[in-house]
Amino acid sequence: MRISLPLGSPLPSILYVSITGPVAPTLLDVSYRKAKVEDFPGILNLIRNSFDGVLREHGFFDSSPFASPKLPAIPQQGFPWFEMGLKEDGEGFWVAEVEGKLAGLTLSWVRGSLWYLAHLFVSPDYQGLNIGQNLMDRTMKHHKGSTITNRALATFAYNPVSISLYARYGIYPREPLYWMEGPSQQVKTGASTKLRNERMVDFEKARSILTRIDELTLGYPREKNHEFLFGLPTVRCHLFSSGKEPVGYAYVWQNGRVGPLATVSHEIFRDVLKSAFRLAAAEGAPNVGIAATGSNEQLMQVALEQKMRILDNYLFMSSKPFPNFSNYVLYPTGAML
Ligand SMILES: CC(C)(COP(=O)(O)OP(=O)(O)OC[C@H]1O[C@@H](n2cnc3c(N)ncnc32)[C@H](O)[C@@H]1OP(=O)(O)O)[C@@H](O)C(=O)NCCC(=O)NCCS
Repeated sequence: MRISLPLGSPLPSILYVSITGPVAPTLLDVSYRKAKVEDFPGILNLIRNSFDGVLREHGFFDSSPFASPKLPAIPQQGFPWFEMGLKEDGEGFWVAEVEGKLAGLTLSWVRGSLWYLAHLFVSPDYQGLNIGQNLMDRTMKHHKGSTITNRALATFAYNPVSISLYARYGIYPREPLYWMEGPSQQVKTGASTKLRNERMVDFEKARSILTRIDELTLGYPREKNHEFLFGLPTVRCHLFSSGKEPVGYAYVWQNGRVGPLATVSHEIFRDVLKSAFRLAAAEGAPNVGIAATGSNEQLMQVALEQKMRILDNYLFMSSKPFPNFSNYVLYPTGAML
């Protein structure tokens, strides 16, 4: 039997649980509150533990580049992604606590009519106790005054718990996502392109161009996401133009990853993608990597030409069919569209 108090109650919700998980069947006090700056190190730690748990359970721990031993150390200060979440989307940023200990968290962001779930993680010790659903109930209410017309997220392709949880909230499987990597040396450098490539440094100068490309490609305003990426020292934004006409952009990371990338037409997608891989290979990292969407044949073909291999499998889910993945590559982690 489960009993929980109404949302927004200052009192902890009390769950009477009969379970077979790591926590013994007992009375468990779970409280929910908005995230705070002091939570950030613990939140990152929880995400990594929970992520590792799924990778281990499904045999992807050794191959996935997102297993915690392959990630940078947890910074002691400075969590720009969570800081932006708190500033822009505090209503979608929640934590769950059990006896004062962090047990789960969620973060959603809203841009125009799009709601996007960046994170939903419950600590392995407390999974299966309804905490995920309670966090979901809260973050689903986040709308920033807009009428939400689509909800989207990326999750593990092999976790039936998360996939079915989201489907119950009307967010359905839409697109297979393959995390692919290959040696930078294998990237073909010789191919010519008619497109002009320019590195964009000043966000204010790039803002309207990027917004126009996003409008044509995705149909959602994502200025805040671009502004965030421009503020990071580890990624560069490249703009591609045909003559004087901007036709696409690609973010290229110091660690050889590519994304997000968008083009105004499918005809030039292959050209922009290949150029982005050349720029990524030139960053000096041993590998280049990308989140390949299964329905984008050109993306799969180019990735395979570059001898890239599938290292992890994800799933893009949304409440409505998504506008267009034939001209678009997701941000490398899926936490941000
Ligand atoms: C996914 C996750 C957030 C869900 O949170 P949780 O607190 O464990 O889940 P809840 O207890 O709220 O709900 C899980 C539901 O899934 C159901 N479920 C479990 N296995 C299932 C399966 N194979 N098929 C369908 N439903 C299943 C459970 O029965 C439960 O529903 P019920 O309460 O109606 O019985 C949590 O398990 C987690 O952090 N997993 C690891 C990380 C992850 O996958 N995060 C999502 C990535 S975006």
